[in-house]
Amino acid sequence: MREILSVAPIASVSPAEGAGVSYMIETHEIVKTYKNAAGEFEVLKGIDLTIERGQFVSIVGKSGSGKSTLLNMITGIDHPTAGQMIVGGVDIYHNMGESQRSRWRGKNLGIVFQFFQLLPMLTLLENVMLPMDYADMYDFDERPGRAKELLNLVGLEKEASKLPAAVSTGQQQAAAIARAMACDPPLLVADEPTGNLDSKSADKIIEVFEHLVERGKTIVMVTHDPSLTSRTHRNIIISDGELINETVSRSLPLLRHRHMLEITKKATRKTFQPGEVILKCGQGVKDLHLIVRGSVNVMKKNGNGGKVLARLNENDFFGEIELLRGGEAIACVRAGDGSPVETLVVNGEDFLRIVKESPITAEALGKIVEARLKQNLES
Ligand SMILES: Nc1ncnc2c1ncn2[C@@H]1O[C@H](COP(=O)(O)OP(=O)(O)O)[C@@H](O)[C@H]1O
Ligand SMILES: [Mg+2]
Repeated sequence: MREILSVAPIASVSPAEGAGVSYMIETHEIVKTYKNAAGEFEVLKGIDLTIERGQFVSIVGKSGSGKSTLLNMITGIDHPTAGQMIVGGVDIYHNMGESQRSRWRGKNLGIVFQFFQLLPMLTLLENVMLPMDYADMYDFDERPGRAKELLNLVGLEKEASKLPAAVSTGQQQAAAIARAMACDPPLLVADEPTGNLDSKSADKIIEVFEHLVERGKTIVMVTHDPSLTSRTHRNIIISDGELINETVSRSLPLLRHRHMLEITKKATRKTFQPGEVILKCGQGVKDLHLIVRGSVNVMKKNGNGGKVLARLNENDFFGEIELLRGGEAIACVRAGDGSPVETLVVNGEDFLRIVKESPITAEALGKIVEARLKQNLES
């Protein structure tokens, strides 16, 4: 079968500086402010985000946290108050006018919403062909065949000639995805695409997405279904218009978003050279370390000869035993050999206060501490 989807880069408009980097999306300090009678309201407070080509990324956050606003900045449907949005190497707010952006969007982006917005008087096949018309892409004769193949791809080979009302809601959303891919865009952006579907239909939609990602597409999906985020490469949390550091959300996944955000803002970054001692046995422990990059060895004794009790990697943490139980380091922690270790350093007092306000995290930490102590005794 001929490959109907390619992994073509976005090009058409003059590329932004630094093009050639493999990011599909790169945002710099995106701010969005709305004005109303009550005054100004900052919905996005300086979003810095990079998404690589080929990634399947989910974005979650409470209702009103700014998810849709952020997506609308990526698609160019709305425009930021300040900041830079580079999509496929193109600075979409500085190098383009409104009509140019709209043409660019038609060829380079697929967009899927919670409500499918298929045209009710057109068959699924005709709905999928419509964007090819708008963007004036592909020969007239070629369009039905392409549309048919896209419908096959999303599992609708038998429904092509049906009207939207004649198929299930899950199938309507699958058709909307086929329509979004009509012009073979490298990037698909979806705002709560499963929000209106039962869990079985939602599962099918995610399968379609996984299929597209396998073929090299980049997908950014807003969802509030936590069961879907485990199926994406990356999950980004937005809280009150700000992004939560992904090391924080992966290391301490059960914290409330506002606590994750507090840690994101207060934590400092530290780098340790290979072999460098980070915590010394017998020394007071003041901070929690979340490992951003590299790995560390937990050793029984200070010095080189000590036995390695455990090796901790990205998104693991250390220092919690001493902070929670009070007292000095019960083991020595040293940066692993090979590459430097980068950690996020969380002030111990802040950490303890947050744990006090977070019973589920407290319980999970209790279990980790217990397991680690047991392992230390057995070694
Ligand atoms: N056009 C608008 N005018 C004024 N306020 C808006 C507008 N669009 C969104 N908002 C406000 O911005 C905040 C974030 O909205 P939104 O991005 O839709 O959140 P989410 O998708 O995370 O639920 C909300 O408080 C919302 O009321
Ligand atoms: Mg929304």
